[in-house]
Amino acid sequence: MFGEVVFDPFWLAKPFLHALDPEGAHELTLCALEANLVPWQPREDDPILATTLFGRPLTNPIGLAAGFDKDARVYERMGAQGFGFVEVGGVTPRAQTGNPRPRVFRLPEDGAVINRLGFPNAGAAAMEARLTRKGRPTIGFGINLASNADSADPADDFVHLARRFAPYADYLTLDVSCPNTANGQVFLDPARLADLLARLGAIDWGPQRPALVAKLSPDVADELVQRLIATLLAARIDGIIVANTTRERPAGLRSAHAREAGGLSGTPLATPSTALLARVRDLTAGAVLLIGVGGVAGGAEAYAKIRAGASVVQLYTGLIYEGTALVTRIKRELAALLRRDGFTSVAEAARAAAT
Ligand SMILES: Cc1cc2nc3c(=O)[nH]c(=O)nc-3n(C[C@H](O)[C@H](O)[C@H](O)COP(=O)(O)O)c2cc1C
Repeated sequence: MFGEVVFDPFWLAKPFLHALDPEGAHELTLCALEANLVPWQPREDDPILATTLFGRPLTNPIGLAAGFDKDARVYERMGAQGFGFVEVGGVTPRAQTGNPRPRVFRLPEDGAVINRLGFPNAGAAAMEARLTRKGRPTIGFGINLASNADSADPADDFVHLARRFAPYADYLTLDVSCPNTANGQVFLDPARLADLLARLGAIDWGPQRPALVAKLSPDVADELVQRLIATLLAARIDGIIVANTTRERPAGLRSAHAREAGGLSGTPLATPSTALLARVRDLTAGAVLLIGVGGVAGGAEAYAKIRAGASVVQLYTGLIYEGTALVTRIKRELAALLRRDGFTSVAEAARAAAT
């Protein structure tokens, strides 16, 4: 009669966190996770959610998107928060401070965030030291790579990072779609992208070749999407993440910060990023694994991405508004949606989309 009543401490913490500036709140959250002070989410996953990511078994297909754990400080805590996999970074070869503050803005009325961080991070050596010390997490693991803002040869940065981090992860993401740095955009030129992929293809990986994944921008016109996908397919990329944040400002944004420069994430990105995902599914025809990200705020959005061809799904912005109880809710709702439509697994639903 009363339904399920679950006490979620995030709702006590949220007014305090949101009274802080977004970066301060984020730092506090990371500190709480590091100190293991964030209550765990239920770990037992519904068997219908079990799947694989580049050969690695996952108990569920919901991942933490890049940008939350830029310096690999808390990735090992993410299994206990309910995630099936986690992507750390973006990491650049050398430490950098990023753009001037303020550079992250909440858009609460829109369930969104705008950021123009520009990859502040402690650099590859600091990340590698943490990965060496802490080891792999119990869940799936990706590392998001990016070039330094002042790099003369951004492709060289990616090659360096890919070599360096190959032994540590299930997959490496090439963030070739960051809207907030000049170097984040150079690989939107298919010729530059082809050159980068050729240089990565020439690496002698030994026995530890990681899956390579490219992250797309939602802001490219369809003709360029086709050329970028053709370039990625020709280089036999293993996966594609759709999508990064958008420079677009959809009509109807209500928040005071809607006109801030930077990349928009969260609810307004759900429809365009899922539409692009479906387009990429059609262009790739099952040849690569697809990871759907953008505006996942419930099981419905996660399911929509799976039905548009995503094998797994990621999220970030939803956590800012709902905490990690969101992960538990998404999993419950997703399992119900899969059953409603007669699927017995996530992979089956994603495959059905591809045919
Ligand atoms: C504050 C912030 C920082 C981010 N940093 C990165 C990053 O370093 N590398 C990257 O590939 N994506 C980054 N992203 C993009 C997310 O990984 C994701 O693609 C995007 O936010 C859409 O998902 P969401 O709507 O669930 O947040 C960042 C997003 C936010 C909000």
